[in-house]
Amino acid sequence: MPSRRSFLGQTVASAATLTVAPALPAMAPASAAVERLPIALMGCGGMGVHHLKNLMNRPDVDIRYVCDVDANRLASAARIVEAGQGHAPTPVKDVRRILDDKTIVAVWMATPDHWHTPGAVLAANAGKHVYVEKPCSHNVREGRLLVEAATRNKVQIQVGTQARSTKTCQEAMARLHGGAIGDILVAKAWNSQKRRNLGHVPPSQPPAYLDYDLWLGPAPEAPFYANRVPARWRYFFDYGAGDMGNDGVHNIDVAIWGLQVDRLPDRVTALGGKLHFDDDQQWPDTQYVVCEYNAAHAGGLARQLIYEQRIWSPYVQEGYENGNAFYGTKGCLIMGHTIGWKLYGERNKLLEEMTGPVDIRSHHTNFLEAIRSGAALNAPALAGHVAAGVCHLANISTRLGQTLRFDSTTETLPQNEPASALLKRAYRPGHWATPKGV
Ligand SMILES: NC(=O)c1ccc[n+]([C@@H]2O[C@H](COP(=O)([O-])OP(=O)(O)OC[C@H]3O[C@@H](n4cnc5c(N)ncnc54)[C@H](O)[C@@H]3O)[C@@H](O)[C@H]2O)c1
Repeated sequence: MPSRRSFLGQTVASAATLTVAPALPAMAPASAAVERLPIALMGCGGMGVHHLKNLMNRPDVDIRYVCDVDANRLASAARIVEAGQGHAPTPVKDVRRILDDKTIVAVWMATPDHWHTPGAVLAANAGKHVYVEKPCSHNVREGRLLVEAATRNKVQIQVGTQARSTKTCQEAMARLHGGAIGDILVAKAWNSQKRRNLGHVPPSQPPAYLDYDLWLGPAPEAPFYANRVPARWRYFFDYGAGDMGNDGVHNIDVAIWGLQVDRLPDRVTALGGKLHFDDDQQWPDTQYVVCEYNAAHAGGLARQLIYEQRIWSPYVQEGYENGNAFYGTKGCLIMGHTIGWKLYGERNKLLEEMTGPVDIRSHHTNFLEAIRSGAALNAPALAGHVAAGVCHLANISTRLGQTLRFDSTTETLPQNEPASALLKRAYRPGHWATPKGV
């Protein structure tokens, strides 16, 4: 990468175009014996299998267990790993089998969101390092408990926001944090894509291959609905945070990274609703959010984070389906989600651009290095909490139609009982996975 000075020198004459090559697979030298860390995966759905496929041919891990409450998915995941790794993992339905096994060093969690913090805290309490998918929490309180679990147990908790380990994003941050667009006062994140209608369905019997009681876990008891499981649970209050907590949280995390804030905002206001879909989903399909950070909490400058969501759009925004804009006093940077960016100076002069692929493998590598050598995590629990927390606060503001004055030190909403109640959630009474302190 050019130094900032030489970079600026280059850009005087013309816009620089860079393409980042895909990272080469990490190969062990033929002579070196690589210690394979025994690991496990909880949640073998779309994302879980994506993790498995990226993990099973690494020389530095041994996938010992796969875990799912869906017997079909479990069997399929075990077969995939056996073929890729050369030996089969043990398939289990109940994560406690993994947590009881003292040889397991780390657990990847790609369950629905209502299991993220409960599962991760259980694993951390059992001394396991945890890679937990985004959003790392179901609500603000859980996010804080996750951060505390990492510190208390002295374990590494990496959140699945792989932009943090993707070269193009890191290069963009180097420009932003090096002053390329001046003081960044506003960062925008958007989620603009085409989702499907979930329809209206009555409750039904869960399929025989699914342990629906274990799927619900610590969430309140509820009938089974075929348009929630799998994958569409994210559009329902008890299991997810809508598309803002799904895809939006990636871009919100990048916005926060650019703004260099490490806490939740001081004020949040949001509007949203279902403007398009006539179906069972509970969260908005259309949403607009503004968060403000006090200067004292954001490196000496008051800053804003804006989020826009329209999940019924068969077209892109600013050239990118999902993305970010960083507005500085000297220029701006427009970024597509993990695919590239363009840096503009005064009067929209294009100064530099870069493209490159998303790199989940490096995110795994960073996590494994943190476990082995204490290297700094790229997406630690705190980063996951402050990104997910924006989604949760914005969703509270949207649901109540209120501007929230949030105490970002105590993470409370003083004198606001209705909103305070939504900082956490109801759990199934006495369920074994309910985190302490919720
Ligand atoms: N980082 C990314 O880019 C990215 C992309 C997609 C999804 N995700 C995240 O991955 C997670 C999973 O998403 P998905 O689309 O694969 O959902 P999914 O519903 O397809 O998969 C979740 C799996 O978890 C299983 N599960 C549920 N409860 C379980 C339990 N108690 N124990 C074991 N398994 C259990 C389900 O049976 C299912 O197979 C979500 O949190 C999502 O936000 C991340």
